[in-house]
Amino acid sequence: MKRAWLGAAILPVALLLSSCATQNPAADYSTPSATPTTTAQAEPVLQGNGDVPRLLDPELLENLSVTVHSQSGYQDRIFVSWPEFGKPRIDTAIRGYYLKKLTEFQRDYPRPTDPAAPSPELNLDWHLIASSPSMIGIVADGYQFTGADSSNLWQTMWFDPQTDTVYQPSDLVNSYSANTALAGLAPSRRTTVTTLDLSSLGNDPFGAATLVAFTGNGDLIVGYDECQVAACVEDRVTLTIPATTVTPMLTAAGVRAQSAEMDPVDPSTTASPQPSATPASPIVTPQPSTRTVNCKKLKCVALTFDDGPGAYTKTLLTYLKAGNTPATFFMLGQQIDAYPSVTKAVAKAGHEIGVHTWSHRDLTRLSAVQIDKEIVSTVNIIRNETGVTPTLLRPPYGAVNATVRKEAGKAGLAVVLWNVDTLDWKTRSTPKTIKAAVRDTRRGSIILLHDIHKTSVAAVPQIIAQLQAKGYTFVTVSELLGDPKPGQTYRSGR
Ligand code: NI
Repeated sequence: MKRAWLGAAILPVALLLSSCATQNPAADYSTPSATPTTTAQAEPVLQGNGDVPRLLDPELLENLSVTVHSQSGYQDRIFVSWPEFGKPRIDTAIRGYYLKKLTEFQRDYPRPTDPAAPSPELNLDWHLIASSPSMIGIVADGYQFTGADSSNLWQTMWFDPQTDTVYQPSDLVNSYSANTALAGLAPSRRTTVTTLDLSSLGNDPFGAATLVAFTGNGDLIVGYDECQVAACVEDRVTLTIPATTVTPMLTAAGVRAQSAEMDPVDPSTTASPQPSATPASPIVTPQPSTRTVNCKKLKCVALTFDDGPGAYTKTLLTYLKAGNTPATFFMLGQQIDAYPSVTKAVAKAGHEIGVHTWSHRDLTRLSAVQIDKEIVSTVNIIRNETGVTPTLLRPPYGAVNATVRKEAGKAGLAVVLWNVDTLDWKTRSTPKTIKAAVRDTRRGSIILLHDIHKTSVAAVPQIIAQLQAKGYTFVTVSELLGDPKPGQTYRSGR
């Protein structure tokens, strides 16, 4: 979904119930579905008790690259993604935070030995909250399920892309003044928390904050993780210091951070933002397909790519074109948001695009309303960027239950799993990925790959060549399945 970069505020969910225009231009490989019955737009909103920073369109950042680490087995439920800016110190700091959380999670909550035990899950992604040539702010936003308990975590990071400088909160705001202001705030200010205890944080509660950001009005938001300053049930809690109080406390870097959040601009340009000048993203009209395939006669198989689009997807498109091979991409809303032009290129090349949800959460651990948001937000961004309405859902980790199937059905989506697992995410080996795909494929197979890994993309030319040599015909998932029914689950075709 295109978020205007000046009007980038993410409205409260309650305000986002306007219906969305439906466009169903003639799709090529995919069949437009019935209009989803749910119309809630569900762009991500940072969840917290109190003021939270508004989230900006990551498309603001040119030359952005997103690294995705996912472990996508049925029992391995880890999805971690972070941005990289090509700046050594900044990238080291960001990567260091994410990899530390990942390592700690894997150490503390290993995959259960009992296959019936609930699988621990780590979901850690990122949002852009401030942007200017001299200041970028991001927030790491995480959810973890230990197998018994779940919790949310967050961490803001501030840096100057021009000088490759990483800032701590105390570099932005005078800590002594901030602590004085925090002590004087009524606990109930803009949060519903009535019992707030900053005293456990010692004499520097500001320094212990995991979120330091600004509102669109320039107020300072100081946030804490669950259980840090209030009862765990209160969610992550934020306190707000008004702009009039905080502005005199800001350092020069803090002033830049405040304005990068109030008036975000593309960091690669010094031009002034132009309100309401952001053009609607052009809708791609996919080339009409001239192909007709008869999978009753041919040995059809489908290549599927999850978790993208990403840094290697364009390369993959050249390989698919060279092999004259259609494929199906199960895309993440958050990755489409970061790579809109790649998304358009995938659609324009005539491949099928399916829904892999917005944020790659294990849907079986979410409520029906949350599942609906994950699905509908992604349907909307696919439709807005490509003009095609998706008809397929691949739930992250292949995790499905009755509620997932029901919500998929309501959105007009068939549930598509796989029956050839290359384990490309695990081996990160091009030869092993080729071998697994070629060895395990049968007529009707749905082959699982991930275009976020360079090693997987590099395997594609050989997978195509070797399977074509065995007489297989590549088709999209919708072609393979014929007429997949919304809400039904498929692991293979005929
Ligand atoms: Ni996935």
